[in-house]
Amino acid sequence: MAAIAVSALCSCGSKSAATAESNNNVPTVVSDSTLVVYYSQTGATKAVAEEIQKQLGCSIAAIEAVKPYDNDYDATIARWRSELEAGTKVEIKPLAVSLDDYNTIFLGFPIWGGTYALPVATFLADNSLEGKRVVTFATFGSGGIDLATADVSKAQPKAEVIKGFGIRNARINKAPGEVMRFLIEDGYMAGKIEPLPEYSAAVPVTPKEDSIFNAACGSYKYPLGSPVTVATRTTDSGTDYRFEVRSQAPDAEEASSTIYVTVPDGAAPEFTEVVRH
Ligand SMILES: Cc1cc2nc3c(=O)[nH]c(=O)nc-3n(C[C@H](O)[C@H](O)[C@H](O)COP(=O)(O)O)c2cc1C
Repeated sequence: MAAIAVSALCSCGSKSAATAESNNNVPTVVSDSTLVVYYSQTGATKAVAEEIQKQLGCSIAAIEAVKPYDNDYDATIARWRSELEAGTKVEIKPLAVSLDDYNTIFLGFPIWGGTYALPVATFLADNSLEGKRVVTFATFGSGGIDLATADVSKAQPKAEVIKGFGIRNARINKAPGEVMRFLIEDGYMAGKIEPLPEYSAAVPVTPKEDSIFNAACGSYKYPLGSPVTVATRTTDSGTDYRFEVRSQAPDAEEASSTIYVTVPDGAAPEFTEVVRH
């Protein structure tokens, strides 16, 4: 039964690994037992999951809540809050594939409250990923994959959990290129890609960099703080900035974060991720 479901979902054919040299920049599959498993409420994580699946040519399966969340953001926040408070285990449908058939799992989710979404908590509670390599990926409003990856590791201490790929939902149109870079750089897919340069040493922000930070972050729905230092790097397509930022948490505690901003040549600054410390 499981085997039928798997072959129906798998678009990978013989999945034999070709060499990167044979076809530069055309992705080739490097693992023959890889599954993308994801939960997505509003479609952003689904888009990344399908991109990973397409580039690796592997299998894919969705985690689905028995009672789907409303498409309205505020309604979802309200339901999520009450489920958190009540310690509700959100019911999910059985997965369409057997996890036994895979040893590498790309596990994707939206970030909710700084970690993985609740249906993924149920998936992790109900399945053993012991002995498997689990590569996380996430979409988010601002960030959170580091903490979520640590939480996946806590939930599945016998799996080898590796931080994978994260992207803001506001930049989802950049997913194809960024997924390709991630898969090649981290060794999940053969191919050649120009390495990105190192960041410069961090220095105090100048008024010009402060205005770049504000142009990138000023319109975000939550305040992101004030930049203190910045490191930069110049890439083929523009300039990247890594800001160390001080902010005030809602409980008035001082907080710090690293905020990544990119300024593509000829385009407006956009922030790519917030890593909270
Ligand atoms: C209940 C809820 C909580 C969220 N919490 C966070 C958060 O803590 N940090 C963040 O960056 N984004 C947060 N978001 C935004 C989602 O992570 C983001 O919209 C994501 O791309 C949605 O993915 P999806 O389209 O696959 O459902 C939250 C969204 C919801 C609905």
